[in-house]
Amino acid sequence: MLVSAKDMLVKAKAGKYAVGQFNINNLEWTKAILLTAQELNSPVILGVSEGAGKYMTGFKTVVGMVSAMIEELGITVPVALHLDHGTYEGAKKCIAAGFSSIMFDGSHYPIEENVEKTKELVNICHEKGMSIEAEVGSIGGEEDGVIGAGECADPNECKMIADLGVDMLAAGIGNIHGKYPANWKGLSFETLAAVQQKTGDMPLVLHGGTGIPDDMIKKAISLGVAKINVNTECQLAFADATRKYIEAGKDLEGKGFDPRKLLAPGFEAIKATVKEKMELFGSVDKA
Ligand code: 13P
Repeated sequence: MLVSAKDMLVKAKAGKYAVGQFNINNLEWTKAILLTAQELNSPVILGVSEGAGKYMTGFKTVVGMVSAMIEELGITVPVALHLDHGTYEGAKKCIAAGFSSIMFDGSHYPIEENVEKTKELVNICHEKGMSIEAEVGSIGGEEDGVIGAGECADPNECKMIADLGVDMLAAGIGNIHGKYPANWKGLSFETLAAVQQKTGDMPLVLHGGTGIPDDMIKKAISLGVAKINVNTECQLAFADATRKYIEAGKDLEGKGFDPRKLLAPGFEAIKATVKEKMELFGSVDKA
């Protein structure tokens, strides 16, 4: 059964660890993440961007696949199915399709409009027992074709959004989606501390988890981050393992072309990446 992310994040915040959000793209991705969470007895959040939802033929397909997989694989750790960087319309579609959590990314709207739309969605989500994430200050890099500059959020605006009753808040602190450029200045811990100071117990979300050095991840968790999003790193690990398989000519040996064999190294690589992150975030045995 899918659960809201609220309880897992309240527990993470109190226990000073973070729950990983790993984005899914297909069956192999979903299975690899769910099995790893179960093996490590860790709570997990499956992230679905609007683009990935479309790729998987729609949010209803995603809900069907994930719910059935939880049952068929006997997954007992808490699993939240979460819309990543949702538009207002996308958020409504996911609520109707049976997601257990959504992110409404109104960071590109003027703050008044972000507040108004977030407020409406908070009410709908809470009525249905779902959790909701909001964003202030756009996260840098490219996400489904939208390029952000890696802003630092205004702590007062963060408080305005936090006060609407969202369950988790993504605040830009110089983080970027995808690979970090060589001249990246690092996370702004000053901004993070100021945001947490204004928002009290609000679980904070760190987007762009790929490529952030381990010591920065740990410091961010110590300052109030309770959810960390990882997407690109699983994609890189999958592509690398698949390339090695093909370059070694394994698809040409026997039945090596069978997709179940061809995709196996990538599947194992996602599992290894997710395990490494869960250990780093401290969510192992916290189910
Ligand atoms: P990365 O792709 O950089 O890991 O970021 C993931 C993310 O923040 C999804 O919202």
